[in-house]
Amino acid sequence: MSNRRSFIKGGVLGAIGATIIPKLISTKTSKTNPNSQKGFPMVISTWEHGMAANVAAMKVLRNGGKAIDAVENGVKIPEADPESMSVGLGGLPDREGKVTLDACIMDETGNCGSVSFLQHIKHPISVARKIMDETPHVMLAGEGALKFALEKGFPKEDLLTEKAEKRWKEWLKESEYKPIINVENHDTIGLLALDKNGDISGACTTSGLSWKMHGRVGDSPVIGAGMFVDNEVGGCCATGVGEAVLKTLGSFLIVELMRQGASPQEACEEGIARIVKNQNYKDMQIGYLAINKKGEHGAYAVHPWFNYALHQGGENRMIDAFSYLT
Ligand code: GLY
Repeated sequence: MSNRRSFIKGGVLGAIGATIIPKLISTKTSKTNPNSQKGFPMVISTWEHGMAANVAAMKVLRNGGKAIDAVENGVKIPEADPESMSVGLGGLPDREGKVTLDACIMDETGNCGSVSFLQHIKHPISVARKIMDETPHVMLAGEGALKFALEKGFPKEDLLTEKAEKRWKEWLKESEYKPIINVENHDTIGLLALDKNGDISGACTTSGLSWKMHGRVGDSPVIGAGMFVDNEVGGCCATGVGEAVLKTLGSFLIVELMRQGASPQEACEEGIARIVKNQNYKDMQIGYLAINKKGEHGAYAVHPWFNYALHQGGENRMIDAFSYLT
């Protein structure tokens, strides 16, 4: 937690300049993130599982590949990793013991695909990609999504690992539903990539909140909530309690703020400010990552301990995000 500190600098109005000034409510707005630099190709993603995901994504970009392929390949790593207990295989189940997955993907042309409440398929991100590439729709859910995936040749698997089942049985003893900050809501992998052509894509995939109600869908498959890309401006992804992100359409908001002149850091801080303004933020963690076309990034969370992986300039490293509460 080397660089966690209060991060209050000068007023946002002066920082943004005289063109279009978004009306911000954040009182902690900072123009830039000191860990931000320009340059691409680059990849950024949420939490520790982002390190390995970034490596896979950067491999695509270094070979001259497109951002859309990089983001899919990247997030497939934690999806397949049973130790990553908030994504794909090994994800913690809902209160009925069922692993249900949400994911979305978006490319530089504004094409997007999404899947929600999907069971038995280890790589929801690739199902979302197929929905984007091969159907006239954006989102498929539940049984229909599973049917589509099976028709496309995805294997049907039991995603509930022994370890996850044990945790669920422990939880059943009390059956108390109160997500623990940075543990139970330490969930989604969101990943954004900027390729050598300067094109942006994003992906987001999760098993959602552990012990959620059966049928609950979070922010991650909702384009504009869990993730959003506008290739003229930038991209954003979210992690944490999806309900708060859904209520504020966080990723779309943050990209639109960047369009109006906010830096990625300013925009992320404002995204959190909108949550803090109206919601019971003390009990939940939410974190945002955003990038712009230059490869600059912003990161901000409600609580401390949100961290992210940044692969840029030949280095892949973990960084602690700044937060509203310190
Ligand atoms: N952010 C993931 C979820 O709430 O499901």
